Amino acid sequence: MDLINTKILKIDNENPDKDKIKEAARILKSGGTVAFPTETVYGLGANALNEDSIDKIFNAKGRPQDNPLIVHIADIDQINKLVKNISKRAKTIMEKFWPGPLTVIFDKSDIVPYKVTGGLETIAIRMPNHKIALSLIKEANLPIAAPSANISGKPSPTESSHVIQDLSGKIDMVIDGGNTGVGLESTVLDLSGDIPTILRPGGITIEDLLTVFDKVDYDKALENNDENLKPKSPGQKYRHYSPNAKMTIIKGNENLVSKEINKLTKKYEDQGLKVGIMATEEMKDKYENGEILVVGSKQKTETIAKNLFDTLRKFDKLKVDIILAEAIDEKGIGKAIMNRMGKASQNIVKVE
Ligand code: TXA
Ligand code: MG
Repeated sequence: MDLINTKILKIDNENPDKDKIKEAARILKSGGTVAFPTETVYGLGANALNEDSIDKIFNAKGRPQDNPLIVHIADIDQINKLVKNISKRAKTIMEKFWPGPLTVIFDKSDIVPYKVTGGLETIAIRMPNHKIALSLIKEANLPIAAPSANISGKPSPTESSHVIQDLSGKIDMVIDGGNTGVGLESTVLDLSGDIPTILRPGGITIEDLLTVFDKVDYDKALENNDENLKPKSPGQKYRHYSPNAKMTIIKGNENLVSKEINKLTKKYEDQGLKVGIMATEEMKDKYENGEILVVGSKQKTETIAKNLFDTLRKFDKLKVDIILAEAIDEKGIGKAIMNRMGKASQNIVKVE
């Protein structure tokens, strides 16, 4: 792939400069690619209705063609052209959680190219809750397809430097709008069956959704490691968010977890390997050796969500061979954290 010149444009999220937004929107309108911040992670945006633009996204990321993209809108009216119909349940959920980290699956209309949907008859749509993202989409006046702005398989970007590291020379522009908020991607929700089903856990938790629906399920393929179960969200079948090192999650009683991590650290260090420990604030002082990075606080799991991908990238910078990570309690956003950690890791050790 020939390298192109990637322009980096700094925009203040509190008060986005109109001229800069216009400059970025011009690239989108003329078929180019712009990485921009959202409240979850940075997205790599392009015109969702232009097949050549979509090709540029897949090529830059090295993304498998059958993994569909989420289409981003800034105005609820934009949705009408993209979908066949909007159910009552969809309407309720959009009113309650948009703009926000919730992606909803609809039947796609004929104008949506199969390239965007990975050949599926359905389309994933969300309205991000972020000033820069919203003003950019409004100004471009287009539905914007935007997967996370990382090389396929790498941790998603939560700051512009992550995007630049992965995609510089492959995309037209990166908007530097500071750190993203949530730090993990949106929740992907399927409303086609009797029971609303979470295909990918994310920023909106099952507890949030249960304030609207009596019952919410997780896609069976998420709960199970059965290779024969096909995830409804094609992206969930790939190994993801992977640091270069081999990662093991250690789960169980706190004391046993720290003991096991100390034992494994010693074992690997004796083999001449460099070990990274992904620790919580509460546990960090229990570790004797290794490169210890604090990912956040068990008491405030949202801090772990915010720092997870950056911490994985930091371990890469430290060139560790092995990452030993404490498991996180799966309530609230913890469910999404453990989903991403599970995909980044090779195995989980239970000590109980
Ligand atoms: O927070 C987010 O959602 C970020 C920001 C940039 O908006 N975007 C994001 O996109 O995470 P991406 O491409 O990294 O993940 C999209 C996920 C994949 O797991 C994909 O399989 C699923 O959404 N998806 C997209 N269209 C789908 C569809 N029609 N049916 C089921 N799953 C779909
Ligand atoms: Mg992604």
